[in-house]
Order: sequence, then C-alpha cells, then structure tokens
Amino acid sequence: MERLKLAIERARAEAGAVQVSPHWTPREAELPPLPLETANDGALVELLPLDPYHLEQHRIVGLHQGNPMRQSFDLLRTQVLQRMQEHGWRTIAITSPSMQSGKTVVSINLALSIAHHPSKSALLVDFDLRRPRVASYLGLPAGNSLNEVLAGDMDVNSAIIHAGIPGFQVLPTQRRVEGAGDVLASDRVSRIIGGLRSGSPDRVIVIDLPPVNAVDDVLTILPRVDCVLIVVGSGSSTRQEIEEAKRHLARFNVIGVVANMVPKSKVHESYY
Ligand SMILES: Nc1ncnc2c1ncn2[C@@H]1O[C@H](COP(=O)(O)OP(=O)(O)OP(=O)(O)O)[C@@H](O)[C@H]1O
Ligand SMILES: [Mg+2]
Repeated sequence: MERLKLAIERARAEAGAVQVSPHWTPREAELPPLPLETANDGALVELLPLDPYHLEQHRIVGLHQGNPMRQSFDLLRTQVLQRMQEHGWRTIAITSPSMQSGKTVVSINLALSIAHHPSKSALLVDFDLRRPRVASYLGLPAGNSLNEVLAGDMDVNSAIIHAGIPGFQVLPTQRRVEGAGDVLASDRVSRIIGGLRSGSPDRVIVIDLPPVNAVDDVLTILPRVDCVLIVVGSGSSTRQEIEEAKRHLARFNVIGVVANMVPKSKVHESYY
C-alpha cells in the first residue's frame, strides 16, 4: 500500500496535477515499476521516488538543475571533494555553533550534489539523534532507519535507503534516541561507522550532527570522522558562540565554513 501511495504521489509530481478519485484503486500490476539501482553488495534495489514539491518546501534543491541554490551547492561540493581527495578523507560531518543554522538543509543538499558527481556517490547519515530531521525534509516514509541498527535489530547495510537519484543513499533516524550522548560513545556506533567506511571508496559519507556548543555529541563522534564542515546561520550565532565553536573544533580537521541564510542584499549578484 505504501508503494501505491508513493507511485500516486510521484505521478502527481510528474504530471503537475493528476486528479485521483478517492474511489479509484489501481491494481499493483498497473503501477509503473520503480527504477532500480545497484546497491553496494551488487544487489538490485528499488530507487525510492522523492516528491519534488515536498523537497522544495524544505529547501532541498539538489534535484533542480536550474535552481541558483543548486549551483552554490555544486560549488561547495567541488571544494569539499578536492580537499577530501587531497587527504584521502571519506567521511565529513556537518555541525554549527548554535541551533537552527541550516545544518540539515546543507547536509542533504551537499549529499545530493555529491551524488550527481559522475564518479562519486553519497551516503547521508542522520547522527543528530536528538532532533533528527533528514527523513522529514526528504519526505521518507516510516521504515528502515538508524534506530533499528542502533537497537541491534538490523544490519547497517540493510537499513540504507536508495532514494531520488542514482548514487544517493540515506540512513535516516526516524525517532529521537534517548541517552544520545551515551549511544554515540558506544562501541556499536564505532562499528556502524567502520561498517559504512568499508563500502566503495568512491562513496562519500555525509553525517548530519547537532550544534557543537549545545551538547557533547559532536565532540564524541568527531574522532571517528575525517573532517568537519561548519555551518554558520546569518543572525543565528553570536561572535562569542562562533569563537566557542572554534575552540571546541580546534583539534579536528575543519574543512571550511558555510555562511548560510545570508540576506539577499548582501549576496553579490552577477550573471553567474
Ligand atoms: N539558506 C536558508 N534560507 C532560509 N531558510 C533556511 C536556509 N537554510 C535553512 N533554512 C530554514 O531554517 C530552518 C532550520 O534549518 P535546518 O533544520 O537545516 O537547521 P539545523 O541547523 O539543522 O537545525 P537544528 O539545530 O534544529 O538541527 C528550516 O526551516 C530551514 O528550512
Ligand atoms: Mg538539523
């Protein structure tokens, strides 16, 4: 039934406005087949469709070729990939000094942009166990998630969802995790990250995290991640908060800082 709902949603999105009678129930056989993709273990898996309208509502622009925000993320991707390649890094975490800076929006868009790269794929992991939002921003239905993997009920590779475009993989967190700090410090999380690293060397792992100044989750997980990108939301962090974040992150590989939510009047407009 879930598959049916998704197919109808997809038809709506593709056709603009398909009127579906509430009494109309197509047979499973009438549904268009979902596209297939090869998973890491060589198995063919269905590519879960993403709703372009829902994505746009949540500022996810990775599927829109002409969107100017998409170009900014492609530029960020190129810089990030160059730095990561220079050092042989494969995992990148996203954090910020304070809450609501746009970390999750940046994480998803960066991962989608990496997935568009001809020789790379991206695995986006939601390790913000206190306020997980990747699943809701992408509009993923309830299903396999990091919650099952953390509970020991599922193997990490089986929980990965292939969604939207080839090369884009997601390990969402569907429900807030109690005792997040202790969970992140556990051997199980080390093994999960180790397991993810053992995938294809062309797969970049993008990890969405909470703010670094708010909780110790970020400092707990960063020793197991290669580098970190800081997102500073214009108006959402004070200079003091930015200085505090810099102190916390001084011993890690900070790959760069993204200035997000910059008012349009301060952005240099040009043909490009
Ligand atoms: N560049 C932007 N311009 C305007 N709004 C934005 C921008 N980036 C993100 N937002 C909006 O800001 C809100 C917070 O974004 P997001 O959830 O990505 O932040 P976050 O740093 O991950 O938050 P949290 O600390 O709760 O995890 C969302 O409503 C999002 O749509
Ligand atoms: Mg977030």
